[in-house]
Amino acid sequence: MTNLLEVENLTVKFPTRNGIFEAVRRISFSLGRERLGIVGESGSGKSMTGRAILRLIKKPGILEADRIALEGENLLDFSEKQMRSVRGHRISMIMQDPKFSLNPVMRIGDQICEAYRLHARSSRAEARKKTLTMLENVLIRDPERVFNAYPMKCLVAWGSVS
Ligand SMILES: Nc1ncnc2c1ncn2[C@@H]1O[C@H](COP(=O)(O)OP(=O)(O)OP(=O)(O)O)[C@@H](O)[C@H]1O
Ligand SMILES: [Mg+2]
Repeated sequence: MTNLLEVENLTVKFPTRNGIFEAVRRISFSLGRERLGIVGESGSGKSMTGRAILRLIKKPGILEADRIALEGENLLDFSEKQMRSVRGHRISMIMQDPKFSLNPVMRIGDQICEAYRLHARSSRAEARKKTLTMLENVLIRDPERVFNAYPMKCLVAWGSVS
């Protein structure tokens, strides 16, 4: 059976004032149908590995790999348009830090709706309903209130008094 994911010699590097910094250095692994955990100290390159697989390394960062194959298809050969149909449909990444992954000036519900509508092409009303169900499914209390809240409420409140 074809492996779900194969990563061969993946490197992510960034040019810095002191030369090239290698955030991920020639890693290879394959994933059959099982689950795979990558463990490492902070800054060891776990998130960069995930971003690289999704081809989300922003310039001036450089992604190099011999192959990143999803069910036998090399993602390195995919166009940006093809990658957009992979992201969120076939591979998803849950960003760990809301400070950097959520927009502080946009309501939580609107951010979830936006992502959902990009993939599902649904109406606003349908996306709203789906978003409330998703919040409920992950045991968020009072989904209606959370839908209308801002992710950085505490930070904003703190900023306004300091
Ligand atoms: N834009 C950048 N320019 C230079 N180096 C960067 C850049 N972005 C990230 N790095 C470096 O890449 C390395 C890998 O970071 P990464 O976020 O993948 O670590 P991590 O294993 O996910 O850590 P954590 O457990 O804290 O989430 C870190 O040393 C980080 O400082
Ligand atoms: Mg990380």
